[in-house]
Amino acid sequence: MTDPDTAPALELHSVSCTFVDRHDASQRYTAVRDVTLTVGAGEFVSVVGPTGCGKSTLLNVAAGLLAPSSGSVRVFGAPLAGINTRAGYMFQAESLMPWRTALGNVMAGLEFRGAADARERGEAWLRRVGLGGFGDRYPHQLSGGMRKRTSLAQTLALDPDIILMDEPFSALDIQTRQLMENEVLALWAGEGDKRRAAPSLSPTPPGGASEASGGRQGRKAVLFITHDLDEAIAMSDRVVVLSAGPASRPIGEFVVDLERPRDVAEVRTTPRFIALHQAIWAVLRDEVLKGYQQQLAA
Ligand SMILES: Nc1ncnc2c1ncn2[C@@H]1O[C@H](COP(=O)(O)OP(=O)(O)OP(=O)(O)O)[C@@H](O)[C@H]1O
Ligand SMILES: [Mg+2]
Repeated sequence: MTDPDTAPALELHSVSCTFVDRHDASQRYTAVRDVTLTVGAGEFVSVVGPTGCGKSTLLNVAAGLLAPSSGSVRVFGAPLAGINTRAGYMFQAESLMPWRTALGNVMAGLEFRGAADARERGEAWLRRVGLGGFGDRYPHQLSGGMRKRTSLAQTLALDPDIILMDEPFSALDIQTRQLMENEVLALWAGEGDKRRAAPSLSPTPPGGASEASGGRQGRKAVLFITHDLDEAIAMSDRVVVLSAGPASRPIGEFVVDLERPRDVAEVRTTPRFIALHQAIWAVLRDEVLKGYQQQLAA
């Protein structure tokens, strides 16, 4: 039996996912094949790959929303059956409940869990993502960036051990995106109250939430999906490159040995970042072209 204290946070072992057409069982599409992927406790891993290659599919498998056709998933050493309750999921698409206010959205998961202090914790997390004054707004009254912040607060308020993020900021303008990326890194590193790189965000730390306290020990494990290589390198400890589909699989894995804490905008100009970018892009480029051509031909 694997020791849960030393086991990786997440292990996908030889995972394949084949989708079968509901109306014609002979129509099958294997999105990913034989994918083995590990995220250590406290590790920040990004997966990059061309559009349609199976990134969201893998995240759905990790979340327990999709059972793989073959292969297995372990969470802190234990086989995953059903929903991954140790993980919080930030979806690619907007996923706030339009009939609930920002605070209502952040509180929702806490309420489901019966937390008596759901309101206080929800308010604290909204302050932490810079939305202290916006709790009573409905999603349609918030900007795109504010909605993403609300989603972030919603995910982190539940204090998950694993955070699954599926291109969470791809719809944002570059400045907001970089602020959010820095914010995520600061929260992940447990130094959100220092606000080194995110001047527009509220400095109030949350009360009561048991967020990470610095050092890998207390950190969340993050599996971050993006098709933006710059973002992947700037954020991560490790970048995994997926091939174009069908039957996508990891074709490269790179350790990002850039110092932390990082400012995602500043780090891009360092020679080491540029060298890593060149090395990873050399693997990714052909796959991106293949993926794009496949979508054009479909
Ligand atoms: N439920 C499903 N039924 C049938 N095919 C599916 C299903 N989900 C995904 N696919 C197919 O599997 C492939 C991978 O999809 P997925 O959403 O994982 O790609 P992705 O890498 O996240 O793409 P993007 O970067 O555009 O978000 C695509 O070809 C998609 O059409
Ligand atoms: Mg996707």
